[in-house]
Amino acid sequence: MIQNKRILLIIGGGIAAYKSLDLIRRLREQGAKVQALLTAGGAEFITPLSVSSLTGEKTYSDLFSLTDEAEMGHIRLSRESDLILVAPATADLMAKMAAGLAGDLATTVLLAANVPVMICPSMNVEMWNHPATKRNMNVLRKDGIQVVAPAAGDLACGEVGQGRLADVADIVKAAQFFFDRPGMLTGKKALVTAGPTYEAIDPVRYIANRSSGKQGYAIAAALAATGAEVALISGPTSLAVPFNVHRINVESADQMLESSMAELPADIAVCVAAVADWRAEKAVEHKIKKNGKNPPALKLTTNPDILQTLSKSGKMRPGLVIGFAAETENIVKNGQKKRGKKGCDWIVANDVSPGTETMGGARNSVHLITDKGIESWPEDTKEGVARALAKRISEYFQKEPV
Ligand code: C5P
Repeated sequence: MIQNKRILLIIGGGIAAYKSLDLIRRLREQGAKVQALLTAGGAEFITPLSVSSLTGEKTYSDLFSLTDEAEMGHIRLSRESDLILVAPATADLMAKMAAGLAGDLATTVLLAANVPVMICPSMNVEMWNHPATKRNMNVLRKDGIQVVAPAAGDLACGEVGQGRLADVADIVKAAQFFFDRPGMLTGKKALVTAGPTYEAIDPVRYIANRSSGKQGYAIAAALAATGAEVALISGPTSLAVPFNVHRINVESADQMLESSMAELPADIAVCVAAVADWRAEKAVEHKIKKNGKNPPALKLTTNPDILQTLSKSGKMRPGLVIGFAAETENIVKNGQKKRGKKGCDWIVANDVSPGTETMGGARNSVHLITDKGIESWPEDTKEGVARALAKRISEYFQKEPV
């Protein structure tokens, strides 16, 4: 419950700082107590007066305020909250956090913090995609910092791409989940498959499905944040390993199956991977030459079905097996059929028809199909869907004695 939780909001120096005012209101609406710390950069965009008017508290901004420092203000600030939320987190602030710098009040508080920290990055798309920012993100994730990923769309600088501060409602949901989830899946082991598989034709060519791995990684992260021990069996992706998740890298469906079976026994299996249905019957050892005439014949064979194998693994079967069904039409009907065919407990059916953002995008629109019926969830970010699924999984284990 976020009610009565103390949140220290650190407002970085980006144009999205103005959205932090709305964020304060929405957090307080949920019953949270918000104190704010305005960085010097943040104060270029909004004033301490507007922040204080909304928090109803003093707004901190200067490291060397004698009155505050007489009480060791920066240490106290870093100890008094249940969560430190950084929104917007600029590229500069993230770089300083990753390097452990402490040149102003915000970074000093962050370095001295012994409470969880959640950052909401916001910057220009090129800054977000820069290798330096990616490096810093990896460091911060490894340090256990929670991240509310930026959204894609029009940016204040006039460019288009990922980098926009996540919607205020999504930040509030992430903070709510943070307070709701603790430890509900502690002691449970989960395996998650994610990403595509690559099926070699020869040493340079392969067959694959389209998959960014984002939804599977988000589910692995949400399950880990809910206390589960998570093994993420991942095909090739460019994503960073989520905090507290053990990733096993694989390429082919055969390897994915072998690594999945090696993780049993497990309580939960969530198969999100876009496994290639077929592979070349025989991968050729050397690169196939173009002879200038006919293309080579490609004889295919069927790949093992990991979801089905896990669902039908007898005594070793995980207590709750969940599959995904990417459909372009008759989503629910096809999802129901798939549930029966694969033998899994739940199917998350998602709409990947042209015009949706699902493939490679940041959002998803799903229906959860169980033996009890169908739940159609509102469209959400992939992180939001992952959190909702982790919550449903937790509820399942609270209700069903295992
Ligand atoms: O049959 P289809 O590919 O539509 O089923 C999708 C579901 O089955 C997903 O959960 C996917 O991870 C899983 N699957 C699998 N192994 C395969 C094919 C699909 O685990 N070879």
